[in-house]
Amino acid sequence: MVSSSPAGQAQWSSKAAFILAATGSAVGLGNLWRFPTEAGTNGGGAFVILYILCVVLIALPLLLAESLIGRHGQRSTIGSAVHLARQSGASPAWSLLAIVGLIANTAILTFYGVVAGWVIYFVGTSAADLAGAIGAGDPLRGAYAEQSVAQIQEMMPTLFANPVLLVGLQLAFVVLTVWIVARGVKGGIEAAATWLMPAFFFLLIGITVYAAIIGDFAAALTFLFTPDFERALQPGVLSAALGQAFFSLSLGGGAMIAYGAYASRETNLGQTSGMIAFADTGVAIIAGLAIFPIVFFVGMEPNAGPTLMFQTLPAAFNAMPGGAIVGLAFFVLALFAALTSSVSLLEISVGWVIEKFGVGRAKAAIGIGVLVFLVGLLSALSFNVLADQRPIPFIPGFENATWFDAIDGVTGKLLLPLSGLITAIFIGWVADRKLVNAETGLKGGGLGAWRFLIAWVCPLAVTAILVLGLFPQLL
Ligand code: PFF
Repeated sequence: MVSSSPAGQAQWSSKAAFILAATGSAVGLGNLWRFPTEAGTNGGGAFVILYILCVVLIALPLLLAESLIGRHGQRSTIGSAVHLARQSGASPAWSLLAIVGLIANTAILTFYGVVAGWVIYFVGTSAADLAGAIGAGDPLRGAYAEQSVAQIQEMMPTLFANPVLLVGLQLAFVVLTVWIVARGVKGGIEAAATWLMPAFFFLLIGITVYAAIIGDFAAALTFLFTPDFERALQPGVLSAALGQAFFSLSLGGGAMIAYGAYASRETNLGQTSGMIAFADTGVAIIAGLAIFPIVFFVGMEPNAGPTLMFQTLPAAFNAMPGGAIVGLAFFVLALFAALTSSVSLLEISVGWVIEKFGVGRAKAAIGIGVLVFLVGLLSALSFNVLADQRPIPFIPGFENATWFDAIDGVTGKLLLPLSGLITAIFIGWVADRKLVNAETGLKGGGLGAWRFLIAWVCPLAVTAILVLGLFPQLL
């Protein structure tokens, strides 16, 4: 149930519901699809160790910082940042953190919709497959039973060769996201987050156990958890780890500011931040442990890139008794996980447009949705018609990046950390100390540790990683 605060802002009906919704934003394709892709292309263990360090030392303190800005402000992300700056006697220009974030999140949604479109494709094919299995009187058979693993892995290249279908799927996802946001986020998201996210979590654990049994679990463990310090220092790995931490925890874009605004005054934000970060990281690791045993089992290269998840899990469902049912359930729930994240991506700009220009929610959502779809065409077509285009070869690390890679990389590795950097300086040094401390819900040593991380570790580490990312020759 959703009620209204005196300020007219709707609030989550309970503390648990707020945590679930924020976790719903955090847990999405970033965990299932992007984490394994990045871990695979950045050397496995080298990346995973850096990723966990980035989550604990940088992302977690920032998660608390963002949610407190939101709860204190009770406005759009930019409005909340301006409000806290004014109350602290500082320039409203600090809202730059939310402006950069708004641009980043809207840009992320453009390619997020493309990958979510691939998920819809697998919802469709696995539904058709299950219908076939039921028709054949064998509903408990594996997924795509008539196909070999090689044929299953061909599904992605075949999809990529069909730009019209790719664009149609992307459009379908954007329409779904716009529809939910236009109706008002809270009700729908809260229901989805309360029931579907936990269901998804248990299903994922089941799939991981199965993958561990049939796949090469030992090779996956070695790949993901053997630290390789030399590889960790190679250009790109550090900024990939930081970018993934921001992306996966929905940080830097303002989503946590926006959702913080819905948290009640009784919510202890220090505690909830810890729970959200823990759950999100857990899901990413579990997804990695589902995917990599299959990678080695079917003899794929871990650095296969964005198709990795879609070429491994269907192969596991193929071998699994009942795989036709499990496969369909997995992709449907993955689609919900993607939606609970994409609505938080779209809500940032929609919330701001409503506040700033006084237009209706539906109008704002549709207008931005059209923009997101059009820009998203660049990403959708990166796998076929525009495959040869390299839009930003002059930025180190992006020499070979397609539009898809470029928009993903620039937002994740540059814009989100940049916004996080401004947030850390603002909260650590500029914003009213008493007010900020009171919002955290932390005391004593915990508060001291958080203040140290947000004021010193976050700004210095993020600056260093940004500089090293742009000038790899310094390493
Ligand atoms: N955290 C989401 C995921 O892991 O899929 C993606 C995301 C959502 C990023 C919201 C940024 C954001 F503001």
